[in-house]
Amino acid sequence: MQAPFSRCPFLIGELYLLGGGTPLASAADVVTITQTYKMTHQYPALSPEQKRELSSIAQRIVAPGKGILAADESVGTMGKRLQKINVENSEENRRYFRDLLFSTGLGEYVGVILFHETLYQKSDAGVAFPKVIKDKGIVVGIKVDKGTAGLNGTDGETTTQGLDGLSERCAQYKKDGCDFAKWRCVLKISDACPSALSIAENANVLARYASICQQNGLVPIVEPEILPDGDHDLQRCQYATEKVLAAVYKALSDHHVYLEGTLLKPNMEVAMATVTALRRTVPASVPGICFLSGGQSEEEASLNLSAINQIPLGRPWKLSFSFGRALQASALAAWQGQPGNRQAAQEAFCSRAKINSLASKGEYRPTGEADQAAMQSLYTASYVY
Ligand code: 13P
Repeated sequence: MQAPFSRCPFLIGELYLLGGGTPLASAADVVTITQTYKMTHQYPALSPEQKRELSSIAQRIVAPGKGILAADESVGTMGKRLQKINVENSEENRRYFRDLLFSTGLGEYVGVILFHETLYQKSDAGVAFPKVIKDKGIVVGIKVDKGTAGLNGTDGETTTQGLDGLSERCAQYKKDGCDFAKWRCVLKISDACPSALSIAENANVLARYASICQQNGLVPIVEPEILPDGDHDLQRCQYATEKVLAAVYKALSDHHVYLEGTLLKPNMEVAMATVTALRRTVPASVPGICFLSGGQSEEEASLNLSAINQIPLGRPWKLSFSFGRALQASALAAWQGQPGNRQAAQEAFCSRAKINSLASKGEYRPTGEADQAAMQSLYTASYVY
């Protein structure tokens, strides 16, 4: 065996220093630490330039008082939204509604996540959507996963597909104007869930996705969503969230993912439980955590986000929003597929954006004026995106 210290002359000194003169590690520990040290430094996953680019994109996305609009519903999911207001799920109607959203000021946003189809559509004025968004100083994101697939032999648990060809797709999306990506994994709580298999599998696939995105200059949003479905209590949910997040960050480390160039998109619960779970598991090097709304009503999601930002505990990351349902429900309800309602729909959308901007600073207080659409639960059992 090689003498371990010759490769890493400062290591033993550092361990002595940390231990106040008493060695903190045995010689065997030092061999292990030295080997880890050698591994990461001999085969760097990213160049300094790549890291700089990724961390500057991630920093732009966590600007204070701003958040992300998740407008990346697949064709099928958008169909369900449109069906609720009796609007046909045609390519033109999907384009029209997205145009309605994107042609507002989008002042409270730093990022918009698109679905593949939308990335290649144009505004009413004939301008490609990525350009419309970028011209407002907003970062363009893209959903890159291909939906869930069952984990056989489990209580209905899933993994998420889409790794095949992902690198090539990411390279193309980067060329086409995207700077970040999203991949949603879904976990559930029941007597037997989340199982060890589902935790390990979803953590690993998120890490593979994140690593591939970073190689292609896209900041990965890492989304391990734990569904609210079930009759479990808050404690159980917090426990599951901690176990899932701990596994995700172990996998990201194993895959040499550069955390400063990532964002986390988790479920949110009652504020104190949420912040406690995050403090126990999410490294301080992660620049921001942008919550999904997960079927809460628009108003509930905003109030919870605001409460999270008022918790008197250290929070080393920005805590903001990346809502889908909780940013679009009032707008869809106001629109009803009628061109004459366009302005009313835009006003509803902008009003939610302003409220969530306040919430991301912990400054939103209920006014009691939220309308019917904003109070309505947006929950769907076993939600697919
Ligand atoms: P909801 O806010 O509707 O839960 O969805 C956000 C999202 O992007 C889920 O992947």
